[in-house]
Amino acid sequence: MKLHTTDVIIIGGGVIGLAIARKLAQANQKVALFERNAQPGGEASWAAAGMLAPQAEAAGPGVMLDLCLASRALYRNFASSLQQETGIDVELRTEGTLLPTFAENPEPLRKFADWQQKAGLRAEFIAAEETRRREPHLSERITGAVWLPDDWQVDNRRLTRALIAAVYAAGVEIHCNAANLKVCIERDRVTGVEVGLERWSAPVVVNAAGSWAAQMPRELLRLPQASVRPIRGQMLALDMQPPTLLRHVIRTEQAYLVPRRDGRLVIGATVEDGGYEKTVTAGGVAALLNGAIEVVPRLAQMPLLETWAGLRPLAEDQLPILGETDLKGLFCATGHYRNGILLTPITAEIIASLIVGEDPAVPVASFSPRRFSA
Ligand code: FAD
Ligand code: GLY
Repeated sequence: MKLHTTDVIIIGGGVIGLAIARKLAQANQKVALFERNAQPGGEASWAAAGMLAPQAEAAGPGVMLDLCLASRALYRNFASSLQQETGIDVELRTEGTLLPTFAENPEPLRKFADWQQKAGLRAEFIAAEETRRREPHLSERITGAVWLPDDWQVDNRRLTRALIAAVYAAGVEIHCNAANLKVCIERDRVTGVEVGLERWSAPVVVNAAGSWAAQMPRELLRLPQASVRPIRGQMLALDMQPPTLLRHVIRTEQAYLVPRRDGRLVIGATVEDGGYEKTVTAGGVAALLNGAIEVVPRLAQMPLLETWAGLRPLAEDQLPILGETDLKGLFCATGHYRNGILLTPITAEIIASLIVGEDPAVPVASFSPRRFSA
């Protein structure tokens, strides 16, 4: 068996594993990252819409909203430092988000804006006329919208490419095609991994395997009810003509619309609890197209460019799983569900701080993997 030594091993090459690897390598840790596929970054991180939407996706005040807001606050610096390191612009767009409604009584949306304002966030209910002034191609049937100026978007495929480039530039070794990786445990701690006939010794292993985090040998996740499961999201893209047809992220109950700078309009997404199947279905695409055309009727004329699907990693209590497990040296960074692109910078900061023995900048007790063994 060929032996290697390193400081930290990361399992999973999505945005979460990559961002943790970058952060640690920049703090002079020797990092080896293992990806099961032929290339890193090809699963949920590639499939996502890239919305940075703590407010639009918030169920209410609480620890999850606080974590999402903390991560959004890091995004400008995160995007610009990635550009400096790699030359790749991740296309952070700050035009904001509109949540239009067709309801005769828009009271629920007003209430939504109210609780967000009371929580100190910028959110405003605006009348139909004002909504259409900001986004002229919205349907004449809308009755108003909530305006969220601070919910932005990033091109997650560019983000993934930038993180891969940054990780290589920081000296991380990426090992692809690392199927059947085994975690080595001695007494009460993790000691490394084995892949085929090679062994990497390290005092720290991070499970960042997204929707597959609980699919690995039981001892790796260390969750008694190992319960990270995949939630499929089907997506499609249209070619906006003209390419500037829409500027804001637009979200209704039926679909969200995310306009990219190059004129692609990303439309999503279904939310389906059906295992590891990534098929795109006629029903899924029809529902998304109907929802999109209802809110922007002109989209009916636009060319369809692409359809795809990805798997969101959902933990049983819907909170991310961040921190050290009850096996010394074994960390988890998964369960980011619908907000993993948003939560990438804060996750990297939290996990890197915990690994080097510093206090994270935000409270993390609610996200500990140990909550499942309590
Ligand atoms: P992944 O990107 O899935 O990466 C996990 C990696 O681990 C994969 O590359 C996989 O091959 C690898 N792996 C698995 N098992 C092993 C193993 N045994 N050994 C080695 N490697 C392994 N989030 C937002 O913030 N905003 C959005 O707008 C948004 N929209 C979304 C839309 C859709 C349709 C989907 C599916 C997700 C969306 N998300 C969004 C969520 C976001 O994409 C995810 O939360 C995030 O990408 C999770 O990143 P990850 O690195 O944990 O997982
Ligand atoms: N956050 C958007 C999605 O998960 O579909």
